[in-house]
Amino acid sequence: MMEISVNAQAIAYLVSAILFILALKGLTHPASAQRGNYLAMAGMVIAIVATLMGSEVRSYGFILAGVAVGGVIGTVIAMRIQMTAMPQLVAALHSFVGMAAVLVAIGTFLNKQADGLLNSVLMGELSAGIIIGAITFSGSVIAFGKLQGMISGRPVKFKGQHLLNALLAIATIGFAVHFALTESTVSLTIMTLLAFTLGFTLIIPIGGADMPVIVSMLNSYSGWAAAATGFTLQNNLLIIVGALVGFSGAILSLIMCRAMNRSIFNVVFGGFGTAGVEGDSAADDAMQKGVKSAAIEDAIYWMEDANKVIIIPGYGMAVAQAQHSMKELMEQLEARGVEVKFAIHPVAGRMPGHMNVLLAEADIPYENVVEMDEINPEFATADVALVVGANDVVNPAAKDDPTSPIYGMPVLDAGKAHHVFVIKRSMRPGYSGVENRLYYQDNTSLIFGDAKDVSEGMVNQLKGSAH
Ligand code: TAP
Repeated sequence: MMEISVNAQAIAYLVSAILFILALKGLTHPASAQRGNYLAMAGMVIAIVATLMGSEVRSYGFILAGVAVGGVIGTVIAMRIQMTAMPQLVAALHSFVGMAAVLVAIGTFLNKQADGLLNSVLMGELSAGIIIGAITFSGSVIAFGKLQGMISGRPVKFKGQHLLNALLAIATIGFAVHFALTESTVSLTIMTLLAFTLGFTLIIPIGGADMPVIVSMLNSYSGWAAAATGFTLQNNLLIIVGALVGFSGAILSLIMCRAMNRSIFNVVFGGFGTAGVEGDSAADDAMQKGVKSAAIEDAIYWMEDANKVIIIPGYGMAVAQAQHSMKELMEQLEARGVEVKFAIHPVAGRMPGHMNVLLAEADIPYENVVEMDEINPEFATADVALVVGANDVVNPAAKDDPTSPIYGMPVLDAGKAHHVFVIKRSMRPGYSGVENRLYYQDNTSLIFGDAKDVSEGMVNQLKGSAH
């Protein structure tokens, strides 16, 4: 391949960096997200080509083999992955970044040691890269295992956990300092093993609803690991991209924590999440519990003559893949002069932006999709709130029950609508495992069934009835 000069490579890297920043800007709104992705792809192509054409590449055999194998595996995974399995895929991918940082740093150390090119700054960078990379790797493997259900998703707590983590952190730093001063491979090995252990002990106590925040934190760590690798390899673009990932992951973690009313400190060192509690699963139990169940016709009766219907999608809509019938339902109601809006809670579903992605996939116009703070004052004037497979994000206990584990989390005020219809399959609770009092309100009725079946039933009924 033709070789380019260092200056030409620097300019290409600058262009990529600008494209990555514009891509992040694009990703801040659903309407511009696709453009953002294209900009990022263009930036990445420029970055890869400029790197491959750089003078530091000595042979292409291994690189091309790696690209071919990785490309095939990546394509197959991307085509087969279910939307609901995205968080664990992201966790798995972070683990690769972490391991790459560890391997690059160790490889660089061995190379430069052989050439006698080590210095104290480089030793510091290498240690940082190995420690952050190792924590990212083992932490992400645990996060993957929890999200995939291979290990318990519950927070695993044990006595002296914080003390153990503190001791591990101090020992890791101690061996890092010794390694940096002496270039001892024994210290390098112990430091690396301790950092792997620290990633494990930091993530294993965390579970339940805190997992997305942790995945986003690990995303941030993987950025810092990449930045450290950038310093090691003296690659400016890797430093910039690592810092972009590091900061955007950290900011996303903070936004999510705010949406759940949890302090980031609490998430990282606490562990409040609970795995879904097994509940009873029949409409009969609902009756016993004093819940009203309703038929599709009842909901249609109130919706077709309504002025305003607010639909609240949640994780169940994603499971049922009911977004397309939601669009049809919206169209049918709008044809009758009903104003239809979709209310989006920032942590509805199982990953940031989950509902936005699904509604966009179904071509629901962005102006019908309204964020929580904006829509909450509108519930009082809505004739019907239709809750489609959402649970925790409409639980009033978050507002008025200080004993509830989700107390303080901002929620959608669905209960303030005139009539509330909830589509779900059973009386099982949502992600946090907490009972939902909304179901027992006088104005609430439950329509038991799969969200797609029920919403298709609604659409068919509307299509069948005269305008
Ligand atoms: P959840 O509270 O998890 O409730 C989902 C509801 O959907 C359940 O009531 C479930 O009841 C119902 N459901 C499941 N499959 C269904 C189907 N096929 N048809 C109809 N209903 C179905 O969901 P949410 O309200 O979206 O809240 C999200 C929760 O997940 C929050 O606690 C949040 O903190 C947490 N979390 C969020 C994220 C992010 S970043 N978004 C990531 C991980 C966790 P049945 O089983 O009775 O049907």
